[in-house]
Amino acid sequence: MTAKILDGKAMAAAIKASLKDKITKQGIKPGLAVILVGEDPASKIYVGGKEKDALEVGYLSEMFRLPGDAAQEDVLKLVKELNLRKDINGILVQLPLPKHLNEELITNSIEPVKDVDGFTYNSAGRLFTGSKGLVACTPKGCIEMIRATGVDMKGKNAVVIGRSNIVGKPMAILLLAEHATVTICHSRTKDLPSITRQADILVAAIGKTRFVKAGMVKEGAIVVDVGMNRDENGKLCGDVDFDEVKEKASFITPVPGGVGLMTRAMLMSNTYEAYLMQQEAK
Ligand code: GUN
Repeated sequence: MTAKILDGKAMAAAIKASLKDKITKQGIKPGLAVILVGEDPASKIYVGGKEKDALEVGYLSEMFRLPGDAAQEDVLKLVKELNLRKDINGILVQLPLPKHLNEELITNSIEPVKDVDGFTYNSAGRLFTGSKGLVACTPKGCIEMIRATGVDMKGKNAVVIGRSNIVGKPMAILLLAEHATVTICHSRTKDLPSITRQADILVAAIGKTRFVKAGMVKEGAIVVDVGMNRDENGKLCGDVDFDEVKEKASFITPVPGGVGLMTRAMLMSNTYEAYLMQQEAK
């Protein structure tokens, strides 16, 4: 079997076009504030992409660049101001923060209704309990891509490799909410291939270049690759050996052009949702 490619670029473009259409028709301008502390090169690129998307959709987009030695109080003060601003509906603090800052404290200082990253304890708890809230962008994007296959997730064996708070764990909860039977694997899992080979849906979020080989994949599986790695030649590649696995899967997401772009699109969709939630609360 040769897999159909789940085209993140096309899906993200359609989501952004639909959001642009909705806000134009409604005559509204949701606002997204992004805070970047320091000069981390990867973070600068990510933040640039988020700003570009927000402007493309037609949102108010505000970037706050703080120096790498910014004091914790200054970052907290900025978040507090943004929490109070009526024209800002979503707040994102780009991670990782410089070592001297308390990431947990700063992330959790964002008002839950403006937590477009879904990283606060409030948002995570809502996801865990099935209560309405903002969901972390990467796992939300992955679920959208799986949905786009048209395959019903109910009763399927879903295997997530990776247990991070921002991808693996929320991914497992979202698959569970779709009534899949979910297994979470990680670095201490014994005989990983025997588990992944049972997956109808396989999500790889481990950060290891081309780790998932064809021999680890069930014939006809849906394979979602969250990895964003550089190989020995500096080429961007995922956690899945795409060339091998595409011959076995029914659907596969490429890297680049897959989950990454959907993550950004979900940030735009969360900003719109946040706007609506704030309108409802008035
Ligand atoms: N750093 C890497 N990915 C992300 C993300 O999705 N959100 C934030 N805030 N920081 C990140």
